[in-house]
Amino acid sequence: MIEKIKEISDAVSEKISQITSLNELGDLRVRYLGKNGEITALLKGLKNISAEERPSVGKHINELRQKVDELLNSYEERFITFQKEKKMKEEEIDVTLSLPDKNACGSLHPLTLAKNELINAFTGMGFSVLEGVEVEEDYYNFQLLNIPADHPARDMQDTFYITNKILLRTQTSAVQARTMLSQKPPIRVICPGKVYRADDDATHSPMFHQMEGLVVDKNVNICDLKGCLDEFARSFFGADTRTRLRPSYFPFTEPSMEMDVSCFMCHGKGCRLCKGTGWIEVLGAGIVNPVVLDNCGIDSKEYSGFAFGIGIERCAMLKYGIPDIRILFENDLRFLRQYK
Ligand code: PHE
Repeated sequence: MIEKIKEISDAVSEKISQITSLNELGDLRVRYLGKNGEITALLKGLKNISAEERPSVGKHINELRQKVDELLNSYEERFITFQKEKKMKEEEIDVTLSLPDKNACGSLHPLTLAKNELINAFTGMGFSVLEGVEVEEDYYNFQLLNIPADHPARDMQDTFYITNKILLRTQTSAVQARTMLSQKPPIRVICPGKVYRADDDATHSPMFHQMEGLVVDKNVNICDLKGCLDEFARSFFGADTRTRLRPSYFPFTEPSMEMDVSCFMCHGKGCRLCKGTGWIEVLGAGIVNPVVLDNCGIDSKEYSGFAFGIGIERCAMLKYGIPDIRILFENDLRFLRQYK
């Protein structure tokens, strides 16, 4: 028995010096001190030993048990402290280190820059800024705007439908409808925001930004529209910018038109940017169709209005010479840093 005790004592000392994890330490504890452990078995074996020897052997076994227990405890403690220190070392942060580049702070995205400039141009003329919702009802995006379910104009805007009645708005004109329903004239608002169409190439993105403008008051006419858009073009594209209106079609304006600005790169001579024409198309506009006014509870005999829709990406691309709309959404830092 005494021999066995010595054997176990040596074995424990050897094994414990080799452990590499707390789990292994736990295994050792089970192996020697557990319910079926080796030292526990020795104690159980005491009953087979003669009565004279039992007290002294029992004392040895108890000493062994105590020794092993203390050894395991002290290793456990050392192990935990060691691991803690290791972790702290690994996670050490030198708060006195200086930044690689103290000026490395972010800057506004070119689209935000363009949007802010557009907003400035119109708030300077007394417009206020409104935002609508991106998940919109067919009713506001199409029906109130004189585009019923079977209207061919729906083809012009490849729509992401969520249900039959709910869609991702295809145009900020939806905010026009909501505004006319909730405000009384005089109305003078711009509504910048995201719009969605199933379209994807160098000049179209499935998500892009528009800015709608709406004016409703007594005696609003095409001259007011032209004056307002001229003012915007000069403010955004440069003081010597000329504009021209071309007839177009939108169901919610009558008459409808598109506005071109004189090419600010070649000043009208013809270049790559304006495809040799000297003009660049920038927006759609028109006199609000009386049907739309009446749809939205505004008496078309008393009031008239004009509306326009500007593509913000298009403005940013023109102004900053960006050849592909997708660059705007890739967020390549080499591109973005140019607009600091
Ligand atoms: N909503 C039109 C479009 O997305 C633009 C527009 C707005 C035209 C307001 C006229 C008046 O194409």
